[in-house]
Amino acid sequence: MADFPQKTLEWQLRSTPGGMAVRLPGRSGTLPPQGIDMRTLHRQSGLVSFDPGFGSTASCESALTYIDGERGELLHRGYPVEQLCQHKTYPEVAWLLLHGELPDAATLDRFNSDLSREAFLHEQVRNFFNGFRRDSHPMAMLCGTLAALSSFHGDQTADQRHRVTAEERDLRALQLIAKMPTLAAWAYRYGRGLPLIYPSAELPYAGNMLHMLFSMPGREWKPNPVLVRAFDRIMTLHIDHGQNVSTSTVRMAGSSGVNPFACVAAGVAALWGPAHGGANEAVLDMLDEIGTVERIPAYMARVRDRADPTRLMGFGHRIYRSKDPRAALMRAICHEVLDELGARNDPHLALAMELERIALEDDYFVNRKLYPNVDFYSGIILRAMGIPSSMFTVFFAVARTAGWVAQWKEMVESGAGIARPRQIYTGPARRDVPPSAPRTGVQS
Ligand code: CMC
Repeated sequence: MADFPQKTLEWQLRSTPGGMAVRLPGRSGTLPPQGIDMRTLHRQSGLVSFDPGFGSTASCESALTYIDGERGELLHRGYPVEQLCQHKTYPEVAWLLLHGELPDAATLDRFNSDLSREAFLHEQVRNFFNGFRRDSHPMAMLCGTLAALSSFHGDQTADQRHRVTAEERDLRALQLIAKMPTLAAWAYRYGRGLPLIYPSAELPYAGNMLHMLFSMPGREWKPNPVLVRAFDRIMTLHIDHGQNVSTSTVRMAGSSGVNPFACVAAGVAALWGPAHGGANEAVLDMLDEIGTVERIPAYMARVRDRADPTRLMGFGHRIYRSKDPRAALMRAICHEVLDELGARNDPHLALAMELERIALEDDYFVNRKLYPNVDFYSGIILRAMGIPSSMFTVFFAVARTAGWVAQWKEMVESGAGIARPRQIYTGPARRDVPPSAPRTGVQS
């Protein structure tokens, strides 16, 4: 592996006239897998690589997050997620992703107070909410108002790749992380017709989010430290996860030089889908549909039936082919939260645990290496905390924002050009438009 970067692969392309040779250098990271640098393939041969789901394609180099899907390992800037989740807070891990190292105490204090200051939204932003139906999905409100924020901060048309300083990029990254909880909480409150709550300078990042969701003007609201810590850890578990579809969307949009509010709005749209961030909402829908432990076998029969599109939501992952390390942590947080709320007998928990047990012993899941993912228990925790399921993906988006902006910054600062995949064209070959038949009775 060590001499991989020096090696150049040479292929004799037998199907091309004269058996053309193509030379492609290796590309090495600090941990596997290593790659083949395909950038000159088309120039050398006129050929393109075909990999629509990116199963064998690295779209970028990144120093942020490393996932070993076989061993079930997740590292942020080299630190295992288990250690970060146990010993650090969400803002510390956000700083780590943005700047490469964990902050010292003074830096963290400054970052926390910057987050508090920037958590306020321009008063005009309230008006955007009024344009939505009260029963709009909060992800629709988040997506729309987030894109609208670009009109309040910075030059909306400045090319972020050439005309923006590093300081300004850091400010936009800070603003996005700081303002997302306020947008998310307001989307929830607007939907319920509740007064919109302003951020509090007294509370930490996660506590502030709960305050904006649950407090009422004129009534004292005291954060429960166990729930605040649990919420902070849930956010840390979602903070970044390599080049998943929403992150790739943020990078792709950003490669055109557009402002980061628009990029993150694009990421939110991609996250919304049930195969990605929408899965924790889908897990609870599934648990509701199953209803009781006795009905699990019938549901599993549907999941195993290849003619039936039913999937076990919260199971399986494109990268993890062994345990998702976030799932075990999420399970532990779930127990802590339910204990704290005196809800140990939550029927969803009993059902989920039995479902997990049965699936892990089922040949269908064992043979396909399908394990619970981060979403399997998160919905149960959020619902127990009083958060409606339509808000689950919104929280995922809030938590993922630090990852998105760190990835966006890394992409812009790497000097990457505009992303432009090629395609294999499968439509008709060139043909001429047939002459029109003479039309009768039509006046010109
Ligand atoms: N239930 C039943 N069968 C499954 C499941 C599942 N949850 N996941 C995969 N399979 C089967 C799939 O049908 C296929 O079977 P076969 O080989 O017979 O055709 C095999 O396992 C391989 O699956 P795949 O579709 O190639 O896997 P993928 O990498 O394309 O899909 C996934 C990954 C996450 C979209 C999929 O596992 C899934 O739909 N899971 C349920 C939704 C879910 O929980 N999503 C959250 C993902 S984690 C959060 C995040 O990081 O965004």
